[in-house]
Amino acid sequence: MIMRVFVAGGSGVLGQRLVSQLVARGHQVTATTTSAAKVWLLAKLGAEGVVMDGLDAMSVGETVATARPDAIVHQMTAISMAHAGEPDTRRIDRRFAQTNRLRTEGTDHLLSAAEAIGVSHVVVQSHASWNGIRQGGWVKTEEDPLDPEEGTVAHAEAAAIRHVEEAVVEAGGAVLRYGGLYGPGTADDQVELIRKRRFPLVGGGIGYSSWVHLDDAASATVLAVEQQARGVFNIVDDEPAAAGEWLPYLAKCVGAKRPKRVPTWLARLLAGQVTVTMMTEGRGFSNAKAKRELGWQLRYPSWRQGFKEELA
Ligand SMILES: NC(=O)c1ccc[n+]([C@@H]2O[C@H](COP(=O)([O-])OP(=O)(O)OC[C@H]3O[C@@H](n4cnc5c(N)ncnc54)[C@H](OP(=O)(O)O)[C@@H]3O)[C@@H](O)[C@H]2O)c1
Repeated sequence: MIMRVFVAGGSGVLGQRLVSQLVARGHQVTATTTSAAKVWLLAKLGAEGVVMDGLDAMSVGETVATARPDAIVHQMTAISMAHAGEPDTRRIDRRFAQTNRLRTEGTDHLLSAAEAIGVSHVVVQSHASWNGIRQGGWVKTEEDPLDPEEGTVAHAEAAAIRHVEEAVVEAGGAVLRYGGLYGPGTADDQVELIRKRRFPLVGGGIGYSSWVHLDDAASATVLAVEQQARGVFNIVDDEPAAAGEWLPYLAKCVGAKRPKRVPTWLARLLAGQVTVTMMTEGRGFSNAKAKRELGWQLRYPSWRQGFKEELA
């Protein structure tokens, strides 16, 4: 069935892939940017490009009402350098401040706009790379809570994620917890640090992470829209892995020397607590539910193949 789909944040690295895949499957797409200069880019992808400020209730209400979609997808984040400036791993709270607002206020504006014109289905971006509850096993399902990151600089981000998840599940929509996204236009700052050997392996590097390629994240999102999926789904690849495995492999793929290894106390000073937590205590995620319930098939079932083909 052909659907009218509204992609808030359609100009982003993931948004663009999603718009292209939706258009390729015959859907009519309205996609947003905050910049009038990017409307042509969205038109080139086959969507109707519109300017919208996700933090302005009036702007969201008018833009959604004009598009009259069957479904809304929330991909608005402001983590890129253009929106958040130079990344500093020690001050993740600053980098995510605007994104946290898009995940709280922005979500509420979209849900209100959806309700006002009778859109019954909303799909949103959440996060599942290393942030599973730090108790028990290394690989978490949708039944396991995310870690609230109490008392750390990541707490506000975790609280914003919790808001978006609770609000959208309550509204009968789908929450897609994407793993660490990789592919063209993503993780460039991380790769740059790895090339400069300024992204060390911390402690024993036993903390787990999950990854997902942009195209796979987009294809799972298309399935969630088309199937009007409800509830929470981990959108990650088949191979959650310890930092001690993926980081040296990633360094090799991008032509960098093997990462240095630093003790946790030093990493806490240089890179901040969040990096230490990720590499020493992080928990990865299982994609069994998304495969089983959405029929999701991955182009890159493992980051091993994906890093080699996409980042080398
Ligand atoms: N998503 C994550 O959780 C995450 C986590 C860590 C690192 N990263 C990395 O960060 C980089 C990309 O940054 P990103 O995730 O922020 O995605 P992005 O590619 O910059 O896309 C964000 C989207 O949100 C839109 N947007 C930003 N502010 C908005 C606002 N006030 N109202 C409405 N829409 C707004 C952007 O529109 P414009 O056209 O106006 O820009 C864009 O369409 C990648 O390297 C990614 O791997 C992402």
